[in-house]
Amino acid sequence: MNNKIILFTNIKGGVGKTTLCGLFATFCAEKGIPVAVMDADIQQSLFRHRQRELQQNQTTNLPWQIQSISTSDEDVVEKVMKKLKDIPGWILIDCPGNINDHALKYIFQVADVAIIPFSYDADSLDATELFSNIFAKVSHAKRYFIPNNIILSDERREQIKQDRDNALHLLGSIGYVTPRIKHGVAVKSYSTIEPLDYWQEKAVVNAFNPIIEQI
Ligand SMILES: Nc1ncnc2c1ncn2[C@@H]1O[C@H](COP(=O)(O)OP(=O)(O)OP(=O)(O)O)[C@@H](O)[C@H]1O
Ligand SMILES: [Mg+2]
Repeated sequence: MNNKIILFTNIKGGVGKTTLCGLFATFCAEKGIPVAVMDADIQQSLFRHRQRELQQNQTTNLPWQIQSISTSDEDVVEKVMKKLKDIPGWILIDCPGNINDHALKYIFQVADVAIIPFSYDADSLDATELFSNIFAKVSHAKRYFIPNNIILSDERREQIKQDRDNALHLLGSIGYVTPRIKHGVAVKSYSTIEPLDYWQEKAVVNAFNPIIEQI
């Protein structure tokens, strides 16, 4: 399997970078794709989620491995990123929700793919476009935008169509906008060790499959 470096990134916080990185890792592993994760966020949310789960459930049969990396040391990040290119399989990197660390440019430069979750509100959409343009100045990665955490109800149906049109208008020319991932407990309660359950699979399949097919 060819090496691919796939980032979960956005300057906007709380849009689902970590959650979707975890779900994507398991989704890929279940398809037989060799996948590993690096947690490059100082919050270490995904790494700590795995540790908490392992404390409750001592399994040796993990779907994917995770390592953390600190973006406070530029030289280390530059070296590690060069080495990552030689590892076979897909490496997912959960990035921080800011671009303050200079070391991030080494991560952005080696990336083949950037998965950029966002939500449909105007603030998130604007920040996402802004981030995407800054990102493209240092990276050639193909950009995929995932509308995430979308609350669906009958009253909102028209609004959601309108929101998607706005998103396509702003982001459609700079990347691929996937189908949405709905707001739901299944997504929120993802695991880093268990297989995806029926509802998790259903929530992400339409957004993830087109990305995987194109990678
Ligand atoms: N589709 C969804 N349905 C329900 N809850 C969601 C969904 N996506 C994300 N969340 C919740 O939103 C919150 C933020 O998600 P997450 O931590 O993945 O975002 P993030 O972009 O990684 O945040 P940060 O910028 O802090 O790293 C979490 O509580 C998560 O459970
Ligand atoms: Mg996060």
